[in-house]
Amino acid sequence: MVQTKGHFISLEGIDGSGKSTQAKALAAWLRTQGRDPVLTREPGGAPGAEEIRRLLVEGDPERWSPETEILLFTAARRDHLERTIRPALAAGRDVITDRFADSTRIYQGATRGDLRGMVDDIHARAIAIEPDLTLILDIDPEIALARGLARRSGEDRFEDFGLAFQKKLHQGFRALASEAPGRCVLIDASRAPDEITADIIASVTNRLG
Ligand code: ADP
Ligand code: TYD
Repeated sequence: MVQTKGHFISLEGIDGSGKSTQAKALAAWLRTQGRDPVLTREPGGAPGAEEIRRLLVEGDPERWSPETEILLFTAARRDHLERTIRPALAAGRDVITDRFADSTRIYQGATRGDLRGMVDDIHARAIAIEPDLTLILDIDPEIALARGLARRSGEDRFEDFGLAFQKKLHQGFRALASEAPGRCVLIDASRAPDEITADIIASVTNRLG
């Protein structure tokens, strides 16, 4: 096993953009390179955080205000960081997470009122870490929504906000990619899965070596 520094990689994008498919494919490729990645997700990724996840992704779309959501997502993220992410990086393992803090920046910070300041303040106090690389899967919201709803998992609280909401998210993620170009790469996610994976592997290789 090659023991080098663990890389912290996040996948971001709107619902149904293909994040979990690509996170699995990236983990499989890293294994072929002799690495031992931890594949994880948010909200969730640790037992306590998974309990908080159920409160967030199920039920009525108006169940929580955006401000309450920021606190719940951050509580789940803190648990994920303490129990899963930090121990894995400390052991030299790569961590691939399906969503991280950028999801809160966009879903809570930029779509239902301007709460970005609150998101950034709480992130700075409670989390204070960014991924080494963030792959933003960029796709037309209509295609992604059709993919996501075809799946109907019972965890569709955010999909239920509708297409206009997904369009705002799409713009938000694109803006984020230009705001943080050192960390973020925009990936065209409208293509076939293998082509997207090849692009992701190229970005990981170029940016992280
Ligand atoms: P996310 O994790 O971003 O919600 P998923 O990876 O779960 O997205 O993909 C959503 C749905 O779209 C799944 O049913 C998946 O099989 C399908 N899918 C994923 N990638 C592609 C692709 N490149 N082309 C067509 N369908 C895809
Ligand atoms: P996820 O399971 O990744 O959904 P999907 O597979 O549909 O992309 O995430 C659950 C939902 O939680 C998703 O709609 C995005 C939302 N979310 C936020 O609103 N803020 C956050 O900080 C995170 C991590 C997720």
